Amino acid sequence: MTPEQIKEKIKSIIQLPALPAVAMEVVELVDNPKTSASKLGKVISSDQALTAKVLKIANSPFYGFPKKISTIDFAIIVLGFDALKEIVISISLVSSLQKKSDNFFDAKTFWDHSISTGVVARRLARDLGYRISGEVFVGGLLHDMGVSVLHRYFNSEFSRIIEITRETDLNILEAEESVMGVTHGEVGGWLAERWNLPEHLAEAIAFHHVPAKAQINPDLVALVHCADIMSLQITRQQIDWDKGIEFDPAALERLRLNDPDVLNGYMNTYAEVLKTDIEQVTALSGMGA
Ligand SMILES: [Fe+2]
Ligand SMILES: [Fe+2]
Repeated sequence: MTPEQIKEKIKSIIQLPALPAVAMEVVELVDNPKTSASKLGKVISSDQALTAKVLKIANSPFYGFPKKISTIDFAIIVLGFDALKEIVISISLVSSLQKKSDNFFDAKTFWDHSISTGVVARRLARDLGYRISGEVFVGGLLHDMGVSVLHRYFNSEFSRIIEITRETDLNILEAEESVMGVTHGEVGGWLAERWNLPEHLAEAIAFHHVPAKAQINPDLVALVHCADIMSLQITRQQIDWDKGIEFDPAALERLRLNDPDVLNGYMNTYAEVLKTDIEQVTALSGMGA
């Protein structure tokens, strides 16, 4: 099969999971500068399960608000539209794509890696003076969602890919190419298109392992790419689906992280931050594996 045919197959078989309708509506409302807090509140409140989860996350130490947030309207005011969008997307990601862990995929590891990449990406963007911190969190959070898609809808191919990474010297991209002719980045990019995420986010997901291909927003792609590897190195996670992936020198240069002392300085700082943030986020019931 050609990559085009696989793409068609993936798109049709999967009926790639749509973002739940309410989540979709929230994302659109947040993108619209004319949206009022009360309109957004009404949409979220129409979904009880979503409301409960939003409030739970809004009250987590991750967002650091000392006062208890007990209503959606208050959550919107204190968190802001963008943070709310992050929360709704993360909830939707977890609930729509997760499949049970098996020998080839560990759901808790996946969630920890997604969160840590999102957190690192946001910090990094802020520390380097980029003005795209909300989007980088979502980009970091969603960067490996193609992995979930492959695990869930192409389970035998996915198992084979992971076996190859364990048994040979091939890195994950080479293993994916050899079995499916497409990579988890590309698959994630297609899902992002299907979810109507902004095209620069779809690009960051699609090219997180090949940042040189970025055209729409190379800074965002470089941030997600570097955050992915920083989080892997900081957490010392051995993750099969990111096996053998290394920093792209051009992406490091773009972010002015090509001096090893500078890079290590950031990594040391984030190691502590990450430890605390991940413990707090995964401690939320129902958000772990
Ligand atoms: Fe990846
Ligand atoms: Fe990753």
